[in-house]
Amino acid sequence: MDKLLIRGGVPLSGEVRISGAKNAALPIMCAALLSAAPLRLANVPHLRDVTTLLNLLGGMGVAVSLDEKLGLELDAGRLHTPLAPYDLVKTMRASILVLWPLLARCGEARVSLPGGCAIGQRPVDLHIKGLQAMGADVRVEHGYIIARAKRLKGARIFTDLVTVTGTENLMMAACLAEGTSVIENAAREPEVVDLANCLKAMGANIEGAGSDTITIEGVSTLAGAAHRIMPDRIETGTFLVAAAATGGSVRLRDTNARILDAVVDKLREAGATITADDDSIALEMDGPPLSVNLRTSPYPAFPTDMQAQFMALDCIARGTAVLTETIFENRFMHALELQRLGADIEISGNTAVVKGVAQLDGATVMATDLRASASLVIAGLVARGETVVERIYHLDRGYECIEEKLSQLGAGIKRIR
Ligand code: UD1
Repeated sequence: MDKLLIRGGVPLSGEVRISGAKNAALPIMCAALLSAAPLRLANVPHLRDVTTLLNLLGGMGVAVSLDEKLGLELDAGRLHTPLAPYDLVKTMRASILVLWPLLARCGEARVSLPGGCAIGQRPVDLHIKGLQAMGADVRVEHGYIIARAKRLKGARIFTDLVTVTGTENLMMAACLAEGTSVIENAAREPEVVDLANCLKAMGANIEGAGSDTITIEGVSTLAGAAHRIMPDRIETGTFLVAAAATGGSVRLRDTNARILDAVVDKLREAGATITADDDSIALEMDGPPLSVNLRTSPYPAFPTDMQAQFMALDCIARGTAVLTETIFENRFMHALELQRLGADIEISGNTAVVKGVAQLDGATVMATDLRASASLVIAGLVARGETVVERIYHLDRGYECIEEKLSQLGAGIKRIR
């Protein structure tokens, strides 16, 4: 299994390119299932989750062609097997995103339940309820969701909590349903808007994406289209936090500060100077960071996917920070590993109290989930001496060439195979 070896203490400096967003690419690739004509995608990140989804789509009969310029063409004209098997779904919860497009297009779908997840229970009850509201017959048998419907019917759907992939699944199904659907309490994440833009390019009738009420007027078929995946706001935020924690100065290209206001605000509170134009963000840090409190919430508030990285920053900040996680119940696993590096963290329920220490010391730590891994890398970059991060397959699910990009910024980091 690959590991990362990090020699800490170097302030990050220089310029890197931000990749396309994992959480936009995955639902948009699933949208290809909705049309018999090809969908051409640009700026697709080269990630393990993308490869997993390509395998899943390939098994259903989707023809895949890739070019060397991060372009991807998906042609679901000969879709033959509306099945998402356990072996693939268990490694990537986002596989649930094939459920509704398959049902809308084929009239039936068998998708394995995603099962447990390191960061919490993550049920899919809201996805299933939404399907039932649109007239599908849904059963759970032998660990599989089995759904059937001749043609889904438009419905008013209210979810009692905000779910990102739930909103995306509903929006995709409603595109080919008969009549009008209204999704209330919809997720407002920029990735939902990116998916809506792609669906609109395919001929869908969608209004209100980016607000908490999305209205979709069903159409009978969708066409092919070309779409460019938006920049990854979590990768952007991770590099900004890494630069702030190491006292560095970086410029990130092909990204956009407007999709990460909450993160930029917190970095300014930590003492960073941030400037941005239409497609780049620059951060400069003068001196050690100040502690920042945060509370995770659905967009546009502070993202749960950035909580772990900020905890690493707070470990070496001046002051004491209180971090509250409200989205997932078990998302502090990185805290134990950060303590191995000398961090002072106390956890009580969904709250972590982090007292800044003057110095972290390198050690061997183990990555437990995707964003936890990123926080350990950041901690390794600031720690004295060598840090080894084990189980980095989590990191490869969601960060494109992380060690190459960090090396480009001057970090002492290498992959050990
Ligand atoms: C998406 C993101 C993930 C991010 C999360 C929250 C993708 C591929 N993944 O995950 O990176 O951390 O949003 O911003 O976009 N819930 C239910 N029942 C459901 C669905 C969700 O109870 O049917 C709960 C979840 O357990 C969680 C909360 O709702 O507590 C939010 O989860 P959700 O927004 O659905 O997360 P994902 O879409 O899986």
